[in-house]
Amino acid sequence: MKITVLNGSPRKENTSAMVDAFVEGAQEAGHEVEVIQVGKMKIAGCMGCEYCHTKGEGQCIQKDDFEKVLPAYKDCDMVVFASPIYYFTLTAQMEAAIQRVYCIGKPTKATKAAMLLSSGSPGVYDGAVAQYKGYMAFAGIEDAGVITANGDENKSEAKLAEVREFAKNL
Ligand SMILES: Cc1cc2nc3c(=O)[nH]c(=O)nc-3n(C[C@H](O)[C@H](O)[C@H](O)COP(=O)(O)O)c2cc1C
Repeated sequence: MKITVLNGSPRKENTSAMVDAFVEGAQEAGHEVEVIQVGKMKIAGCMGCEYCHTKGEGQCIQKDDFEKVLPAYKDCDMVVFASPIYYFTLTAQMEAAIQRVYCIGKPTKATKAAMLLSSGSPGVYDGAVAQYKGYMAFAGIEDAGVITANGDENKSEAKLAEVREFAKNL
């Protein structure tokens, strides 16, 4: 499969450790993986102007880093949303990258998805997971699983092994 991992963290720390483990496992299983660190990108929110659904014919009127994400949304067989939890949800950069898919409606070919979440505290995932599950149900994309890490689990060998194993068995 062609897998796109969207990393919503603006830094290379806990979420990125999970992403690296995911990439290792997925590549070991023969998948092609592209990581896009949307957390470090400048992606504005959707303006709801409907240009994309009228004159734009699928093109967004806003010209920013989302142009680097859109080809992956059109091409991948699986999409992985990886993000730290910021105030009980995903980072703003990740939210923008998710919502700007409006110009094409949903990831075009993807049949599978997963979510990797990192946080300081336990029990903070309900908002992010509900959004992800609702979005995947709406898009008709199968949820392959959600893995979370909080506090000391972040970067722990046990957690990274779990992520690697998960990615090997998609
Ligand atoms: C702006 C901000 C908001 C955060 N909000 C939460 C939160 O609501 N709950 C929580 O458990 N951790 C919260 N955290 C902690 C991060 O989720 C945690 O440190 C995470 O491991 C960071 O991932 P990263 O190293 O990939 O950036 C917050 C951190 C920041 C910077």
